[in-house]
Amino acid sequence: MSTTPLLQVTDLKLHFPTDEGDVRALESVTFDIGEGEIFGLVGESGSGKSVTSLTVIGLSTGKIDNGEIFFEGEELISASEERMRDLRGNDISMIFQEPMTALNPLYTVEKQIHEVMSLHDKLPPADRGAVERMYIGMRSSLARPFSKLHSIASNPTEYRPNGNDILAIFMLFTAWLLLSKAPIFSIFAIAFLLAAWLLSSMNTLDSVHHDVIVERLRDVRIPNPSAVAKMYPHELSGGMRQRVMIAMMMACEPKLLIADEPTTALDVTIQSQIVELMKDLRKTKGTAILLITHDIGLVAEMCEKVGVMYAGSIVEQGTIDEILNSPRMPYTIGLMHSIPRIRDTREALPIIPGQVPDPINLPSGCKFHPRCPFADAKCVSEYPPAVDLGGGHVASCHHLEKTTEMSEVQDAFDRFVEELESKGGETLA
Ligand SMILES: Nc1ncnc2c1ncn2[C@@H]1O[C@H](COP(=O)(O)OP(=O)(O)OP(=O)(O)O)[C@@H](O)[C@H]1O
Ligand code: SF4
Ligand SMILES: [Mg+2]
Repeated sequence: MSTTPLLQVTDLKLHFPTDEGDVRALESVTFDIGEGEIFGLVGESGSGKSVTSLTVIGLSTGKIDNGEIFFEGEELISASEERMRDLRGNDISMIFQEPMTALNPLYTVEKQIHEVMSLHDKLPPADRGAVERMYIGMRSSLARPFSKLHSIASNPTEYRPNGNDILAIFMLFTAWLLLSKAPIFSIFAIAFLLAAWLLSSMNTLDSVHHDVIVERLRDVRIPNPSAVAKMYPHELSGGMRQRVMIAMMMACEPKLLIADEPTTALDVTIQSQIVELMKDLRKTKGTAILLITHDIGLVAEMCEKVGVMYAGSIVEQGTIDEILNSPRMPYTIGLMHSIPRIRDTREALPIIPGQVPDPINLPSGCKFHPRCPFADAKCVSEYPPAVDLGGGHVASCHHLEKTTEMSEVQDAFDRFVEELESKGGETLA
């Protein structure tokens, strides 16, 4: 394994110009991901996690003010749009929280996976010519209504009409109306339908390609992959759609998979299946993963390294053990303390006082200073340096000497909350 990180992001700074002012989405983002590594990015809503990932794949609309992004030693910020298109899908893929935003509702699952694979030259040569494929497509579309009628006739009590059946009945009724009331017009309508039928038959997938796609669906443990390949996204459950999207992204065997809240919309059982799936893919294909989530439990289960984001900066990063058990930046300590743990005896979960800052009016110096019990004049005026604590554990804070004991920091937070409340201040995190 090479020692150069697969992805290296250094001091990335980005803003979105808006009518209300510049939204300072990224202030200072530095992290790297090695080959086959799983890196978790956690942080409150609006801290800049999605913008970071979109910037890496060149899809952010923000203006980059500073920084470098290297992927396999190649600088991406200055790369051409054509080069970025080539990288997306081939080397870097992204799965989103809501798969419907990435799946096309008008195409079947196999058609969409086929398109992505063919765009990135990941398909084996077809074993049939275009004419033969068209003939097969016409034959199978003619056979479909007969096999449907046969299945209804053999088991009429089990029949439940679906959207396609209702559409077919509507079209037959319209055809009958046209034929009986406007025979000349019906000739055009029939010619149009025949042309549409020929065109759709030309799109029939080669059997070798179909088999490859079914195999990819099987990889993501989709039950009955041959049938699912022929379905449209709206016919699938949320968990199945997420798997289809993972299959689609993994079909190109990317070196880096970016997963932005991949399980948030799913129930717990499906969540853990998707997690297992991603871990498996890493094991079998060596794919590195950038996992973006609010869920520290998910990070603990999947990641080797974690970065904690606050107001556009990665304020601390290290191994999962360092971040969970010996964090040093006060915000991370507050965050870790506010997570419920197994056999937790605390009556109430501790809170981080104050509110997440407005990205248009970020505080000066350390962005966490209005909420930090240790803040002093230096914190208000100077951005804290990233201090290397050894072994890749890095924390950005002026007063790391005060944070060696987690319990003392938490006591300081509690006193700070009391002090703010006694002054009538806002204390909800
Ligand atoms: N296109 C845009 N125009 C203006 N501001 C934007 C745009 N995209 C993102 N932002 C702002 O950038 C900041 C970071 O947003 P981002 O989506 O990265 O947050 P996040 O950490 O992913 O949050 P969440 O956990 O809710 O998904 C937010 O303040 C957001 O409002
Ligand atoms: S730099 Fe200052 S304000 Fe920021 S976390 Fe450290 S002590 Fe708190
Ligand atoms: Mg997000």
